[in-house]
Amino acid sequence: MAFPRKKLKLMMRYIGDPVLRQKANEVIEFDDHLQETIKHMIELMHEEEGIGLAGPQVGISKRLLVVDISGIEKTETPRAFINPDIIASAGESVIEEGCLSIPGVREEVTRPETITLAYQDETGKRKQEHFDGWMARVLQHEIDHLNGILFVDYLSPLKKQLLVNQGAIPENF
Ligand code: CO
Repeated sequence: MAFPRKKLKLMMRYIGDPVLRQKANEVIEFDDHLQETIKHMIELMHEEEGIGLAGPQVGISKRLLVVDISGIEKTETPRAFINPDIIASAGESVIEEGCLSIPGVREEVTRPETITLAYQDETGKRKQEHFDGWMARVLQHEIDHLNGILFVDYLSPLKKQLLVNQGAIPENF
């Protein structure tokens, strides 16, 4: 079935697109449209060979994201997180990140190593869960997208300028 995503018009948005700088709105309705959106976001993430995708990256300014790190940790499966909120974090780790909205750029970013997340699942059920490792890292990166933050924001002014000069990211991104 090839038609549904065309109907939803899910298309990747790239750095420089204003939607990536908006603070996304809370999801209120846990209806069929949300289920369809999640399904197609997971498909697009797989097509793009990403491990996480947030609503704003496909032009949906809502607080939802999908993650699939099963390529790294085999016990994991694709998951959706709605209205996620980091309620605690600890430690520090440095990991090289990339982003489907910033093709070709990979840089080291320092973030907390573990997080405790309050969120709703795709049915609207409220949950609280502790994450470490890759899940903690990907979730923090994707939750930043819901707040209009991109991973390159964390780079030094010098490194940012270098990327601008290389044409890897637009000026005033
Ligand atoms: Co990203």
